Amino acid sequence: MKLVFASNNKNKIIEIKHQLPPEIELLSLEDIGCFEEIPETAETIEGNAILKADYVTKNYGYNCFADDTGLEVEALNGAPGVYSARYAGEAKDANANINKLLHELEGKDNRNARFKTVITLNLDGSQHLFTGIVEGKITNYRAGDKGFGYDPVFCPGGKTLTFAQIPLEEKALLSHRGRAVAQLIQFLKK
Ligand code: IMP
Repeated sequence: MKLVFASNNKNKIIEIKHQLPPEIELLSLEDIGCFEEIPETAETIEGNAILKADYVTKNYGYNCFADDTGLEVEALNGAPGVYSARYAGEAKDANANINKLLHELEGKDNRNARFKTVITLNLDGSQHLFTGIVEGKITNYRAGDKGFGYDPVFCPGGKTLTFAQIPLEEKALLSHRGRAVAQLIQFLKK
C-alpha cells in the first residue's frame, strides 16, 4: 500500500519509516513532485494537520497522512504551541527557537512541558485523526546531538536524558509522534 506522508522533514521521515510495517510504502512530498510550501495557517495543531493532509489529497489525489506538532510549556501558558516552528521568527530556526525558549524560562522553577502531535489520515475519501502526547521537562541546557527541533532541551517524563541523547528506536517508543504513529498503524492494520 502506498501512502504519502505530507512532509519533507528528513528526520520525521526516518522516524516514521522505522515504525511502519514493510507493506506500507511511504512516499514523501518530494517523491510525488510536490515542492511548494504547504500553508500552515490554522490556529490549532489539529487544524494544521488537516490543512496539510487535505492539500495533498485535493491537489495530488493520494491517500495521505500529515502530522503537526507543538511544544506546550506550562509556565508559558501553553506557548509556543501551534507556533512552535516560528517561535523565534519566520526563519523557523531550531537553534534560535531553543535560545528563545531557554530565555523565556530563565529563573522559572516550573519546567513542565509536553509535545503534542496530531496525525490526520485521508484514506479513500474519509478522514481520521490520531493524537500522541508525551509529558516531560525543559532542561536549563542543551544536551545531545541526535533528533531535531527542540529535542536537545526536552527530557521525556522520568528520564534524565533529552530526546537528543536517546536512540531513534527509543524515541519512537516514547515520543508524541511515535505514539500517534502507533495508533495510525493499528488503524491501518484493521
Ligand atoms: P512541525 O510539526 O514540523 O510544524 O513542527 C513544529 C515545531 O516543533 C518545529 O519547530 C519542529 O522542529 C518541532 N518539532 C516537531 N517534532 C519534534 C520532535 O520530535 N522533537 C523536537 N522538536 C520537534
